[in-house]
Amino acid sequence: MISANKEYTLITGACGGLGGAFCRELSLRGESLFLTGRSEERLNALKSELPEDTLCYPCDLSDGESRRRFFEEVDRAKISFRRLVYVAGVDIQKGFERYTEEGIVLQARVNFEGAVSFTRAFLSRLDTKVRGEILYVGSVSGIYPMPYFALYSATKKALEQFSSALRVELRRRVNVTCVLPGAIPTREDIKANISTQGLWGKLAVKSPQAVAKASLKAVSRNKRKVIIGFWNKLMRAFTAMLPLSWKMKFIAKKWSKTEKDAFLQEK
Ligand SMILES: NC(=O)c1ccc[n+]([C@@H]2O[C@H](COP(=O)([O-])OP(=O)(O)OC[C@H]3O[C@@H](n4cnc5c(N)ncnc54)[C@H](OP(=O)(O)O)[C@@H]3O)[C@@H](O)[C@H]2O)c1
Repeated sequence: MISANKEYTLITGACGGLGGAFCRELSLRGESLFLTGRSEERLNALKSELPEDTLCYPCDLSDGESRRRFFEEVDRAKISFRRLVYVAGVDIQKGFERYTEEGIVLQARVNFEGAVSFTRAFLSRLDTKVRGEILYVGSVSGIYPMPYFALYSATKKALEQFSSALRVELRRRVNVTCVLPGAIPTREDIKANISTQGLWGKLAVKSPQAVAKASLKAVSRNKRKVIIGFWNKLMRAFTAMLPLSWKMKFIAKKWSKTEKDAFLQEK
């Protein structure tokens, strides 16, 4: 890895569907990028498509030792940051009793512990000459407790609450935003899931590029939290007055029909 005297945007989950869209959108805007993900090979392949000043280094966000090594490497290269875009997330979806211990640990750590840990490390390497930005990718699945997606929903809610509190603590020097997208057709299993939802799925869906653009706009305007997409905003407003027990019954019926578990199979 080369050393450089620029302010970088640090992107986690860079090799994923949404992460890639953030990388392309930010590089079009002339931002210098520091990418991370689990696989060095995939990071290098992505880096080769992006401007020459792009840097990358692997990190397993579920592993404290890997996170420590990552920031050691950042310091060795004398990098300072201006923006953190925490995109990484694990969206295992199944009845809770069918979870493995490994699945619980992975999802809780990547979706929440990794975000909190990266935030602290990022802040101590933030260029003090510029106003910083932190963008967390939450989910509409964090708005209500979601049976059959319970852990994911809880981690995304925790991330949103952490983000809201942090933005008050950091208000003088950093914009902190949590965005809540609905369905994004990134992986094949997600696309299949969306197609089982018929018209509802079609209305709720937004392309990775559209989500990246709307998210970057939200953090540059220093919004606390933004639901991405007109349909998702409408659904939130429409359901706000309904009793939570009704909403959860509806969610349980809909979500008990599908399962997702891409991350453990991949390893
Ligand atoms: N797609 C949707 O419908 C949707 C909807 C709402 C919110 N979101 C959120 O959007 C974000 C991106 O999702 P996506 O749809 O782009 O899915 P994706 O393509 O599967 O991307 C997930 C990313 O998380 C990273 N990741 C997973 N485990 C990791 C670990 N242990 N250490 C480091 N990185 C890890 C993966 O990195 P590597 O594979 O490169 O290691 C991957 O780049 C997630 O936070 C997700 O919850 C997605």
